[in-house]
Amino acid sequence: MKEKILRELKAGESYISGQELCQKFGVSRTAVWKHIKALKEEGYVIDSVSNKGYKLVRCPDVLTAEDIKSSLSTTWLGRTVKVMKTVDSTNLEAKRLAEAGALHGTLVTAEEQTSGKGRRGRSWISVPGQGVWMSFVLRPDIELENSSMLTLVAALAVEKGIKDAAGIDGRIKWPNDVLVNGKKVCGILTELSAQMDELNYIVVGIGINANIGQFPEEVRDKATSLLAETGETVDRTRLLCQVLKHFEQDYELFKKTEDFSELMEEYNGFLAHFGQEIKVVRGKDEYICRSEGINRRGELRVVDSLGRTQEIFSGEVSI
Ligand code: BTN
Repeated sequence: MKEKILRELKAGESYISGQELCQKFGVSRTAVWKHIKALKEEGYVIDSVSNKGYKLVRCPDVLTAEDIKSSLSTTWLGRTVKVMKTVDSTNLEAKRLAEAGALHGTLVTAEEQTSGKGRRGRSWISVPGQGVWMSFVLRPDIELENSSMLTLVAALAVEKGIKDAAGIDGRIKWPNDVLVNGKKVCGILTELSAQMDELNYIVVGIGINANIGQFPEEVRDKATSLLAETGETVDRTRLLCQVLKHFEQDYELFKKTEDFSELMEEYNGFLAHFGQEIKVVRGKDEYICRSEGINRRGELRVVDSLGRTQEIFSGEVSI
């Protein structure tokens, strides 16, 4: 009920009377008043004026399950959500939940990660209360070999979510880094559990540097935040919900063909290095080539100095 009232308050531009809320949800005035009181205690600033009703003035800058649920426009993604103050890593927590039977679409988010994980065994800085650190469980009925493309779906969703919530254009560095003005604002870590060639579950972990004010010296030239780039604090709940909305929509498109047929053009349009010279690092191999964007399988097409085309499915790209 509290969640429904919050949704209503968020949707309303002016005051909503207690009477209206009572009628809409079939509850007593006292019940409405109690829920409003509880929301205020959680940090929501709600203006109450007799004869006019209630108006939401400001949401607290904390992630809450109610706030997320009342802002979500998805059908299945994030409908079950666990919001934590602190956790070792949301990916680890999502895996624990998945092992215990969590449903497709279950979301975990935390204010703080004490052992945030990055790709290739690196760690991920997760400043408390200043980012969107989240992971969700997927149980897709797809071929195991096609599952790596989901990480590209996530990058596309973040790109669009950032645009919606912060009004800024990001760029994707293949396969799944999102950059703003050339610096990394988001990292994605996708992990899976499979038996033989049967997919058990996938965990998609997304870290977005939303409101980080300052980065440690050693990463300052490579990492940035939405706050640093726009000068404005971003509403983390809105950002999280917009990313999930885009992920769910694009996931459905991906599922139709189990490839990037329907998403390739859009993804390539957001690529930071389309048609540009890049350095590809694969294990001990390093070479300079031209990036020609992804193919239907999400592989990066590159052309070397002799004009030979290759389609690479893994590796690190430097621009
Ligand atoms: C990268 O190296 O670029 C990937 C970083 C992924 C970080 C996110 S934050 C939420 C989720 N939980 C983790 O421990 N890692 C991912």
